[in-house]
Amino acid sequence: MRILVTGGAGYIGSHMVKLLGEGGYDVLTVDNLSEGSPQFVLYGALRVVDLLNFKALEEVLLEFKPHAVIHFAAKVKVPESVKKPLLYYENNLMGTVNLLQAMERAGVKYLIFSSTAAVYGIPQRMPVKEEDPTNPINPYGWSKLFAERAIRDYSYSTGIKYAILRYFNVAGADPEGRIGQVSKEPTHLILRAVKVATGQIPYIEVFGADYNTSDGTCIRDYVHVMDLCEAHLRALEHLIAGGESDVFNIGYGRGYTVLEVINKVKEVSKVDFEVRYASRREGDPPALVADSTKAKEILQWKPKYDDLEFIIKTALNWERKYINR
Ligand code: UFG
Repeated sequence: MRILVTGGAGYIGSHMVKLLGEGGYDVLTVDNLSEGSPQFVLYGALRVVDLLNFKALEEVLLEFKPHAVIHFAAKVKVPESVKKPLLYYENNLMGTVNLLQAMERAGVKYLIFSSTAAVYGIPQRMPVKEEDPTNPINPYGWSKLFAERAIRDYSYSTGIKYAILRYFNVAGADPEGRIGQVSKEPTHLILRAVKVATGQIPYIEVFGADYNTSDGTCIRDYVHVMDLCEAHLRALEHLIAGGESDVFNIGYGRGYTVLEVINKVKEVSKVDFEVRYASRREGDPPALVADSTKAKEILQWKPKYDDLEFIIKTALNWERKYINR
């Protein structure tokens, strides 16, 4: 079966390509290499194409004729989205619209879409369920929510099947250490903390310690990247087997505070690095924890790495390996 992966040279996409390649799928990556790197595409070919270039995108789809598309390519940094909102609407919404149009021309029937817990904004209850209100508090979340809407409307008019996966905080790296998270300007907590532990950044900042949580810092549900990719595979199988289009939360249902994460990174790395307190970061909800019952029941998603220590270990292993290259 032929699967086209957009953003397959990036962090999550490259892990997905690895899982698909190992599973015997015929995979093709489309990536503009704005964040990703060709060396992380372990299986199949890479076509360097920007989703905003419709002609080039259409050409790739018509040529490869995928059975399904898994769509990761996107801008994903909350703080950047607050500063440059149009960059997010252009890449995340217009990129998705172009992809849907190219899929229609090529007759592709299945789409797995990478969405985010950021669509919920500040949830009214925790853990969050898929049917809870969506009300993003940053342009990143809005750009993904609009893209979700476009996919649903397009599905209604054309009959294409979709699975929208709303990720909570994705972290960690391939347990075999072949690929991991690389970012030109890292902003994510676990990535920054392991970079501090390996001496690439001098200290970690805690953005806000005055939230209404156990230690005053924000709570997030950290999910291992391979478990997340596994959920995509299950979603693909679900659609191909005739399952209904749907939206699924992907997280473990357990939250950790920023300080708990930092302390775990110190413990795992055995490095007692400097922690500085800074003011709140714009666009941050106090807590985000998933209720992923639906993914477990309908997709038969069975997470294997629900363990913060393991997530941090794999992230740290990758970081140590990557800087020593
Ligand atoms: N944080 C720090 N210091 C840092 C980095 C982050 O204190 O150096 C804090 C943030 O303020 C936040 C928490 O750690 O409270 C997590 O921040 P991340 O940047 O790691 O992740 P976000 O929660 O902002 O966003 C991520 C993804 C989104 C997704 C969201 C859902 O980027 O796609 O998780 O929880 F929507």
